[in-house]
Amino acid sequence: MNEIKDVAREDRCPGISYTDMLNGDTRRPPDYLFEESTIAMGDEPLSVAPYISEEWARAEREKMWPNVWLFAAREDEMPDPGDTVVFDIAGKSFLLIRQKDGSVKAFYNACLHRGRKLRTEGGPSVQLRCPFHGFTWRNDGSLKEIPCAWDFRHLEGKDMSLPQARVELWQGFVMLTENHALPDFKTWLGPAASHYERYDFANRYTGMWVQKKIPANWKATAEAFMEAWHSITTHPQLLAFLGDANTRYDLIGDHFNRAITPSGVLSPHVKGKNSDYVLEKMNEFSGGQDARTNRRFTASEDPVEGYDPADPLGARKILAEAGRKGFAEQYGYDYSDASDTEILDNFTYNIFPNFAPWIGFLPTLVYRWLPGDTPDWCIMEIRLLFPTPKGQERPRAVAMTYIPDDEPFAWANDIMGPQLANVFDQDMANLPFVQTGMKAMKDGLMELGHYQDSRVRHFQTTLKKYIDGELPAVK
Ligand code: FES
Ligand SMILES: [Fe+2]
Repeated sequence: MNEIKDVAREDRCPGISYTDMLNGDTRRPPDYLFEESTIAMGDEPLSVAPYISEEWARAEREKMWPNVWLFAAREDEMPDPGDTVVFDIAGKSFLLIRQKDGSVKAFYNACLHRGRKLRTEGGPSVQLRCPFHGFTWRNDGSLKEIPCAWDFRHLEGKDMSLPQARVELWQGFVMLTENHALPDFKTWLGPAASHYERYDFANRYTGMWVQKKIPANWKATAEAFMEAWHSITTHPQLLAFLGDANTRYDLIGDHFNRAITPSGVLSPHVKGKNSDYVLEKMNEFSGGQDARTNRRFTASEDPVEGYDPADPLGARKILAEAGRKGFAEQYGYDYSDASDTEILDNFTYNIFPNFAPWIGFLPTLVYRWLPGDTPDWCIMEIRLLFPTPKGQERPRAVAMTYIPDDEPFAWANDIMGPQLANVFDQDMANLPFVQTGMKAMKDGLMELGHYQDSRVRHFQTTLKKYIDGELPAVK
């Protein structure tokens, strides 16, 4: 490995920082939001090979995908015994089945006779009967029947149970790995696992769910959501109320990094405006149509004592208070201790390799990226997890909507809300040209920002550890 040069660079966007905002919060935010964490990784250019090379994709399939914890399903997709989910990833397929005791098992989704997939989609299962010749297993994976058993006498006494991958249930997420020697999921993830505990994720449900094919590598697509500083050119409509350049980027261990992008505050790129302007623009943007919030917020409807339009955090105080009230009405819980930041901000938490479950009290976004069968495309999945209203039973996940390949996210305006769909379409306007542009580079080398692109470098560094055999640490 190259020696990493001195990288103790503290340069940040001039002006108020996210940590300053935490210090000005109307409540005391949890400690884990204050913790700033960078890792010295140098500033060498990065090769585009991992995004465009079939050899890399093969190395990922062999060395990385089977050796990490993966988000396979939400529990709310499979609440009842016998419910199944088919999880296809990187050429493999797993059949998840809810057991009678509430646990979830994940079988390799292939018949032990001549390999036909046992199921191609989820749904309730009484038993697993292969559609080809009828080998049949019980839902717990034990063999029930072999048709024409006289022809399989040689299997008598042999364990013909379906082989299993490893599953852990965490905060309502069904996590899966093929590697039986990895540490448990929370240990593998590290301290960020505890960041989810305040928000009752186990009791949330998938209330919005779309997938779309993206003509770009899964990593390039994921990385387009790891930094906020593309907002100035890609999402200019957000600058009136998004602290794009105030975003905090933290790198923790090998498998976790995060961006926290403050909301309800002027972008450092916008000069000469005050908190009234922030509120006006945010209302214009959301207008109750945003699938995430449905909030209303004005200084007159939601007065906050001592509101001062000249206070750069003034709009945040109004918005957070409106959020506390709105959520309390909508979901029936008490949000009076929830800090402004946990009500308002964008917590783009990424769990290596392809899973981004945000935190906070808002209905939270969850992204997942599924690699294509060539390096040139992937599936991007977007969900919103909503709190189950107090006293109600957790609803089942809504059905996933697959956006047709030739349609924009706006095709799903009714499901996603037009504002959210538009933001994703703006991102998609770049991605096909990232993929083709990478191939057009003369030297195939990318020059990254030291801080604002640090998550990209961190992600690539961890991936390389898998490809080079440094990870997983436990064999
Ligand atoms: S392949 Fe499944 S029964 Fe023959
Ligand atoms: Fe974006």
